[in-house]
Amino acid sequence: MFFDFGDLSRRERHKLMTSTIVPRPIAWVSTVNAGGTINIGPFSFFNIVCEEPPLVSIGVGSGERFEGDLKDTGVNIRRTGEFVVNLVGFGNADAMVKTAVNLPAGMSELDFAQLATSPATKVDAPRIGQSPVSLECRLFRNIDIGDGQSLVLGEVVGIHVLDDAVLDAGRCYIDTPKLDLIARMHGNGWYTRMTDWFQRVTPPAP
Ligand SMILES: Cc1cc2nc3c(=O)[nH]c(=O)nc-3n(C[C@H](O)[C@H](O)[C@H](O)COP(=O)(O)O)c2cc1C
Repeated sequence: MFFDFGDLSRRERHKLMTSTIVPRPIAWVSTVNAGGTINIGPFSFFNIVCEEPPLVSIGVGSGERFEGDLKDTGVNIRRTGEFVVNLVGFGNADAMVKTAVNLPAGMSELDFAQLATSPATKVDAPRIGQSPVSLECRLFRNIDIGDGQSLVLGEVVGIHVLDDAVLDAGRCYIDTPKLDLIARMHGNGWYTRMTDWFQRVTPPAP
């Protein structure tokens, strides 16, 4: 069946894209607001862009509180030029969904989700201590898409990897399955784990 996006509402287009473009890795982004408060939010419109410079992309949507509302994550990234993308392990799932809740002003996201942060090495935004991987990023470019949405390109300046998952630091070999990362699937609250893999090596050209 063909769905013509010209005939569909914004909500319908969102449903079709998010239920087919799966699984999506999750950037669990930590930033700092103007008052110094730490903000955490999950973003699954996220991926690697290129390695020279080493860029990641995050699609930050518009907020829901009022028209033209901007999400705190996007505001903080533009203000400070820095953020940390923490990746989400299976053991982080409960805390991660709590950080997507719009809390009343003054309520601490870290307390609500029972999270602890650790200082990052090269940026002022902290990393999430319980996360198996944290990518320290500096804003490379913010592309305003309109309607409160933006494409954030972050340059990765360093990466923390759970010690137990580092096979050979000199060769940068990582035991990826050990990270037990989850990814966003379809519908309301569905995720997947990395429990089923197979290998197909790209063959040489004939
Ligand atoms: C798994 C998951 C993935 C999400 N992905 C995105 C996303 O890619 N873009 C987005 O704008 N919001 C996304 N959201 C919603 C934001 O996390 C939510 O609006 C959050 O409250 C934003 O926090 P902030 O206002 O502190 O930046 C996602 C939520 C969840 C639970």
